[in-house]
Amino acid sequence: MEKRILLFLSLSLISLTACGTTPVAGPAEMAEDIKYVALTFDDGPRKGTTDRLLNGLRDRDASATFFLVGEQIEANQELVARMRDEGHQIGNHTWSHQRLADASPALISQEVGRTEEILESLLGGGEYWLRPPYGLVSPGSEDLITVPMVKWSVDPRDWESRDTEKVVQAVLQNVQPNSIILLHDIYPTSVDAALRIVDVLAEKGYWFVTVKELLLLNGIDPQAGAMYRNGNP
Ligand code: NI
Repeated sequence: MEKRILLFLSLSLISLTACGTTPVAGPAEMAEDIKYVALTFDDGPRKGTTDRLLNGLRDRDASATFFLVGEQIEANQELVARMRDEGHQIGNHTWSHQRLADASPALISQEVGRTEEILESLLGGGEYWLRPPYGLVSPGSEDLITVPMVKWSVDPRDWESRDTEKVVQAVLQNVQPNSIILLHDIYPTSVDAALRIVDVLAEKGYWFVTVKELLLLNGIDPQAGAMYRNGNP
């Protein structure tokens, strides 16, 4: 709980500084001692794995970002509501996990828009940031995207090895402050790995925040259509 309050204060200070009204120690100074990192989970929600992950994150006071596949949302509404209620960021991973790297503008709008619609009907209006499957949209189509896009800087290829220990080691060897870590909450091994990663990195002074929080804490003003790979200012 304390972490959430401190985080809230840091983020409030950032908005105050942005208005130029506060001469006190800025958020950059506060943030210097703390290392922030963002865990992101793609391809869910999935019963049996996502709920276990949510329990573990709650027990550890850790926030994360979930990029959801639209067609899996209706059958898993209670998991999506939990993500929102427990302070996680919810994003869009297209309706049917469509590769957007060479998709037509019409297909991109449809895949992204349909997922936005179901999220809005379930959670209300808001900005649902996009992680395009495989991290790419076709060149020139950035104008179609009305939200910030999120890639990653640490990819342990958890879907390939499905090996908890390998995933943990790959992340620990590559993580840095402001990393965005890519995992998939549809594999039991990835859930186990994620919770181990939180335990180990928390000991080393890392705080687990959402992607949006990571960018704001670093003074970044997220732009629609831009792709963010980490939280480095
Ligand atoms: Ni995916």
